[in-house]
Amino acid sequence: MAQLLDLLVFLIPIYVANSSPVVLGGGAPLDFGARLPDGKRVLGDGKTIRGFIGGTLAGIVFGGIAALLYPLPFFADAQMQFLAAFVLAFGTLCGDSLGSFIKRRAGVEWGKPFVLDTIMFLVVALAFVFPLANRSLYEPMNLVFFAVLTVILHPLTNMLANRAGLKNVPW
Ligand code: CTP
Ligand code: MG
Repeated sequence: MAQLLDLLVFLIPIYVANSSPVVLGGGAPLDFGARLPDGKRVLGDGKTIRGFIGGTLAGIVFGGIAALLYPLPFFADAQMQFLAAFVLAFGTLCGDSLGSFIKRRAGVEWGKPFVLDTIMFLVVALAFVFPLANRSLYEPMNLVFFAVLTVILHPLTNMLANRAGLKNVPW
């Protein structure tokens, strides 16, 4: 397994991109209200354009600062790490939307908890950054660490965001 701090710094753009839409989001939904032939919304009102763009930008900013301060062994140089921050943040929001797409197809209302909520964004972010990263990033123990930490932190942070009044529901 890589150094613990390396793994945590790597996760910064992903976690920032995933959590910031709760505060930055709102306004027009990403699917513009469109429905598929199954009668359900494509993504639902929980996925907004502002949340998508704001979350991606916030991930780039924090991941970019990390790239300046803390070089990661998973990337060839600081430029590559900076590019990776963009790809990871964008991948996180794409994964989040893909999760909602699947959720809607499964007939789960927006805002209701669903198993994919906790992990889909991580999986897609890791897939998106594959062309930019060293193979050492995908060591099995690293992936296990990412998955376990995310599955623990996601419900915990949602609960805290709910208590802080940022989120209406505790999941
Ligand atoms: N959010 C947003 N735009 C996004 C993602 C999230 O505006 N692209 C905001 C919404 O206010 C959303 C909140 O962040 O309600 C929490 O996000 P999330 O839990 O991912 O969405 P849900 O509301 O649970 O909707 P879904 O069931 O589609 O996951
Ligand atoms: Mg949710």
